[in-house]
Amino acid sequence: MATYVTQPDGSATPQKQGSDVVRFGVIGFGYWGPNVVRNLDQLEQVDVLGVCDLSSAARQRAQKAFPHLEITSDPAALISSTDIDAIAVVTPVWTHYELAKAALENGKHVFVEKPFTSNSDQAEKLIELAAKKNLKIMVDHTFLFTGAVRKIRQLLDENALGKLYYYDSTRVNLGLFQHDVNVIWDLAPHDLSIMDHVIQQRPEAIVATGQSHLNGHEDVAFITVYFPDKIIAHINVNWLSPVKVRTTLIGGEKKMLVWNDQAADEQVKVYDKGVSVSSREGVYSLLVNYRSGDMWAPRLERAEALTHELSYFVECITKDQTPMNDGKAGLRVVKMLEASSKSIREKGALVYL
Ligand SMILES: NC(=O)c1ccc[n+]([C@@H]2O[C@H](COP(=O)([O-])OP(=O)(O)OC[C@H]3O[C@@H](n4cnc5c(N)ncnc54)[C@H](O)[C@@H]3O)[C@@H](O)[C@H]2O)c1
Repeated sequence: MATYVTQPDGSATPQKQGSDVVRFGVIGFGYWGPNVVRNLDQLEQVDVLGVCDLSSAARQRAQKAFPHLEITSDPAALISSTDIDAIAVVTPVWTHYELAKAALENGKHVFVEKPFTSNSDQAEKLIELAAKKNLKIMVDHTFLFTGAVRKIRQLLDENALGKLYYYDSTRVNLGLFQHDVNVIWDLAPHDLSIMDHVIQQRPEAIVATGQSHLNGHEDVAFITVYFPDKIIAHINVNWLSPVKVRTTLIGGEKKMLVWNDQAADEQVKVYDKGVSVSSREGVYSLLVNYRSGDMWAPRLERAEALTHELSYFVECITKDQTPMNDGKAGLRVVKMLEASSKSIREKGALVYL
């Protein structure tokens, strides 16, 4: 027999059944929040019980798009509700800590947007609180759930590229200028979380440079990350680019890979190209040999990343598993963002992690 949830207008809508159904409240319905609500609402094992936003315009949009959901201006109404199991925090980064902390204190699992928190101290406190209460934290590192990143991770796990040389990512476009964070805190969490996921080693140090031209926050920035074993990563983020570019190169001893997230198809291409160095007996100069073989484009899964991710979060909650993009993964990204900010302030000084 179905149970019903009473809506503010007095009508009743059926509630999804089963012990594996996770009941969500979503806080924040700006640009990204509607995607989270839409995806959660479509999942069989999820019941979205309410959406909260401080802005009346956002609440009106939410009510129009999801007339069956309860819409509120008060985050506490969702956070303290005994009907709700998990809270999605989809608000600006400076609000993440307080909202996530209140949710955990009230016994809710937390799905929180990237970047996890404004600093590593906050991230550590949330991780500790969740562990104490046996609750899950998932940080929305959406790209990890794309077909492209899943394939790249698989290729690197299989050592298809051989010993890694470099990771080089460009994420540039015109705007959207954020008011509270610079371009690094806005765009680089994507690259840093992908890099953290596909390169299994932990970075040692960071150098970052950047410049602010318009609103006091850096709008163009370059980050270099040093790993053990001579692996080097470079991330270029820019709000002042005339064109949108989303390209990542990963170079290895055996093969090299190009991921163009803007391409309509064949987003990932693996090139059987490489360089080897030899020296002939009696000849002191080194011989550089270039290898140029075939290119192949692996088939990629097409499903929407956020659907995959939220469904995985539900599975982690119901099966009591630790998500790969948990608070600790979020903290690693925040530490790299902090180190980048410090390096920029010190005009490109080397900052150890
Ligand atoms: N995973 C991704 O690919 C992705 C993409 C875009 C944004 N984001 C992240 O999502 C978060 C939100 O970004 P956005 O672009 O949607 O921002 P936004 O400014 O468009 O929307 C934020 C909304 O939160 C509301 N809000 C702020 N404080 C609140 C509070 N205390 N209680 C209730 N509502 C509150 C605001 O009124 C606004 O409607 C950021 O952390 C951002 O980094 C992630």
